[in-house]
Amino acid sequence: MKTSTRITEGLAEIEVPDSYAKKGPGTRSAGFYNAEQVLNRDITIAILSALKPKRYLDGFGGTGIRAIRVKKELGLDATVCDINPVSENIIRNNARINGTDICIIRDTFHSVVSGNLFDFIDVDPYGSTVPYLDAAIFSVKNRGYVATTATDLSVLTGSVGVKTRRRYNAFIGNNSHRHEMGLRLLVADVVKRAAALDRAAIPVVSFWHGHYYRAVFRIENGGSRADKALHSIGLLNRRRMFVSHYDDMDEGPVWTGKLQTSSVIREAINNRPAYVLSRNMAFLSSLLNEDLSILFFEITDMARFLGSSIPPMDSIITELENRSGQKAARTHFSNTGIKFGGTWDMVEEAFRLLTRS
Ligand SMILES: C[S@@+](CC[C@H](N)C(=O)[O-])C[C@H]1O[C@@H](n2cnc3c(N)ncnc32)[C@H](O)[C@@H]1O
Repeated sequence: MKTSTRITEGLAEIEVPDSYAKKGPGTRSAGFYNAEQVLNRDITIAILSALKPKRYLDGFGGTGIRAIRVKKELGLDATVCDINPVSENIIRNNARINGTDICIIRDTFHSVVSGNLFDFIDVDPYGSTVPYLDAAIFSVKNRGYVATTATDLSVLTGSVGVKTRRRYNAFIGNNSHRHEMGLRLLVADVVKRAAALDRAAIPVVSFWHGHYYRAVFRIENGGSRADKALHSIGLLNRRRMFVSHYDDMDEGPVWTGKLQTSSVIREAINNRPAYVLSRNMAFLSSLLNEDLSILFFEITDMARFLGSSIPPMDSIITELENRSGQKAARTHFSNTGIKFGGTWDMVEEAFRLLTRS
């Protein structure tokens, strides 16, 4: 009887026990393979192709897919660790199938990173990354990188306010901007943790996808660099930022700086790693628009305030760009959101013009 499934992802072919080849979150078995994280891994490969770290660590191996792809597709030195002996066997088998010479360690994340050997540490456990972030930030080499996949979205987006306060010492309104607010809260948390260790964390790429957030940070030594990063953490108030229809409510503290390092993303796109799905590269490229503004103009909110229906999103963007001479673009945080460096009134004018005709 067949008990395992072969899966191809990028250039890697891996074998996972049938019961572990699950789609989506919710299983905690060893060797767990999450097909919904292909975009996460593709973007990691693309970013690594630009950063070219000397030593990559996947601290929570599962099937070993990340380290195998990093070695096979990019030729980088890759290590994978997992606490679970069943996972260790699955990873060893997968490394053999792919003929990849990766370092496989059965141990806890904390003991593996304590050797200070790595300049890219991937933190992709189940749920919150909070128990592991300090160790990753403390141990990574100067000018190295820490990547985190956080799945505690209900906490980060404020839907369980008491937990948001306890875990992140912040308030998030769980409103139409919650997905961007939640990502900005995650970034602020990493920046604060790094600052406490006299290190600066600078977001290289960060995004929301389905049930998780993903963010990669460059970590640099230096108290003054850390102080500079802390200056970009603050409260956001949608009434003051946009329009008086919103409640007068401070949310945060969250990260108010750039979510992406455009030079790295551009280099990753130019390198165009061969085995990364083109739709995932298009997603990566679209993230460059996220820094056109802090938060986005939510057109469903505007339609509600004006008591009007919503004109086609692309025509609002074209109208806005033509009238203002500034770039405007869709956001991945909302199907009806627009990133734009101008004011609410400018967007409302374009909106009204289109609904009049
Ligand atoms: C979500 S899976 C990892 C998925 C993998 N990173 C990927 O992209 O497919 C989590 C894995 O972390 C392992 N794990 C849990 N706690 C750990 C710890 N403290 N140290 C090392 N591994 C741990 C589990 O055994 C499990 O295999």
